[in-house]
Amino acid sequence: MKLGTIELDSRTAGLAPMAGVADRAFRELCCEFGATYVVSEMVSSKGLTMHDRKSRELLVLSEKERPAAAQIFGSDPAVMAACARETMAFAPDVIDINMGCPAPKIAGNGGGSALLKDLPLAEAIIRAVVQAVDVPVTVKMRLGWDEDTPVAVELARRAEDAGAAAVTVHGRTRRQMYAPPVDTGAIAEVKRSVSIPVIANGDVTDGPSAAKMLEETGCDYLLVGRGALGRPWVFSQIESYLKYERVLPEPPLSEQMRVMLRHIRRICAYKGERVGMREARKHAAWYIREIRGAAAYRQRVGALSTLEELEALAFEIVSNGCVD
Ligand SMILES: Cc1cc2nc3c(=O)[nH]c(=O)nc-3n(C[C@H](O)[C@H](O)[C@H](O)COP(=O)(O)O)c2cc1C
Repeated sequence: MKLGTIELDSRTAGLAPMAGVADRAFRELCCEFGATYVVSEMVSSKGLTMHDRKSRELLVLSEKERPAAAQIFGSDPAVMAACARETMAFAPDVIDINMGCPAPKIAGNGGGSALLKDLPLAEAIIRAVVQAVDVPVTVKMRLGWDEDTPVAVELARRAEDAGAAAVTVHGRTRRQMYAPPVDTGAIAEVKRSVSIPVIANGDVTDGPSAAKMLEETGCDYLLVGRGALGRPWVFSQIESYLKYERVLPEPPLSEQMRVMLRHIRRICAYKGERVGMREARKHAAWYIREIRGAAAYRQRVGALSTLEELEALAFEIVSNGCVD
């Protein structure tokens, strides 16, 4: 699949944007396990154009995570265009526009999924961003605000008209949040309606579900979000299945714990141990959720405050060999 001049192998997958989770440490780790594309956490166009330090930090993209998109959100075409121009200082390969976030803090201010209710404004934003930058611009959307107002086909057509290089479709409406299974038929309809590449998203967690998603939607590429939490190796499982129909098992427990430590040491290296360990707790809980006795370990994970404590816990888990 082509995003401008960027070539993405359709038999591999990329990492979906996840605020508060898919930071630089996690994105780099996913690339090491075979993710061929990553998207940053969403960044507020208002925040960035008002020189907010946190927004700038979210945009740091390293050379170990390429190609990488910077994702921006907002509801004002001029501010979004200014934001896209400022974002270029961080050398993203792609700019992605968030038109799917259901969070009241975002949608309540007219951004994210609220744009699914105002397609002319959505189109104006895409057009303004496309004109502002030289890199490919993509749009990530849900199917509509609710089941009575499906708009993904029309929004994808408008995105194509406005110069977008591709669209990503999460196969649920805003109202559905994360509840029912993704509607692959609705994603397929978008794919049939435009000639730019369409990226499918939602509920892909392993090789077979990746193959099923590609088959049912006819899409060009996949983004994986929650399926990578505590399991960054999912990208090598997907590649192995899509290329060779080989099902790779989950790594042994000792390897899983090694990956967890590599991940969390890197968070601490980038953010400092105090902030890093606070953020690391949720990741540690995801890494241990499938092991026997996870409930007891989860409590201890919630209280972790140093890397040394985490290393001791990982050692204990491996020594107890508590895998199902
Ligand atoms: C914790 C979390 C944070 C998310 N943050 C973003 C975001 O910043 N931008 C965005 O477009 N989607 C965001 N999403 C949605 C995901 O990118 C993805 O569309 C959704 O989780 C469905 O895919 P999945 O089933 O592979 O997780 C987030 C999802 C989760 C679970």
